[in-house]
Amino acid sequence: MRRCAAWASSAWRCAGPAILRALTAADVEPIVRACADPEIIRFIPAMPAPCTPDDAMRFLKLAEQLWEAGGALFAVADAGTGEWLGNIDLKALDPRGNGEIGYLIAPWARGRGVATAVTTALARWAFAQGVRRVEVLAAAENLASQRVALAAGFRREGVRRSAEDRRDGTRRRPGGLRQALRRPR
Ligand SMILES: CC(C)(COP(=O)(O)OP(=O)(O)OC[C@H]1O[C@@H](n2cnc3c(N)ncnc32)[C@H](O)[C@@H]1OP(=O)(O)O)[C@@H](O)C(=O)NCCC(=O)NCCS
Repeated sequence: MRRCAAWASSAWRCAGPAILRALTAADVEPIVRACADPEIIRFIPAMPAPCTPDDAMRFLKLAEQLWEAGGALFAVADAGTGEWLGNIDLKALDPRGNGEIGYLIAPWARGRGVATAVTTALARWAFAQGVRRVEVLAAAENLASQRVALAAGFRREGVRRSAEDRRDGTRRRPGGLRQALRRPR
């Protein structure tokens, strides 16, 4: 399978209002601003809260590590201006060759199909690279994320109980409930 790194060096235009491109230091300021959003804090337990400029800089390093491990992490950017609008990643594949897509879009860029467009594009690309299965895991109460996945062609597959720690380290329901959505090829 081709590694993502080669692909990451250039912007890749999506069908929708956004492109995927490599993260840059210029993205740090909007990342910090966006990640103060209560929805991001609520639904992405791994996101530092508050997210500092140093934390945001670490995304650049994380992107490198993910590409090395066979995954990908991209800035989602406005197709016209290149301005940072969010992040999307394909986690390192599990031992069976399955991938998981995760995304966040800045509050000021929501509601215009950006997440749907880039999720569709990344899933298609993953399949084209030979990834066998692509899934999205969304908290049961995260209806916005589930609708993004459904709009991007994923189908509900089931519920994974206690699949992830919450921010406080517990796994009690309902926070531990994760809807698993899989995209048919
Ligand atoms: C979830 C998120 C990525 C959506 O981004 P977005 O660019 O606004 O999504 P889109 O514009 O592509 O919307 C796709 C669908 O979701 C729906 N949707 C978007 N926000 C919604 C909300 N708050 N409540 C209900 N539905 C919502 C849209 O109406 C659309 O549905 P449709 O296709 O049936 O019309 C964004 O709200 C976000 O970053 N949330 C916080 C982080 C997060 O939850 N990440 C996912 C972790 S699994």
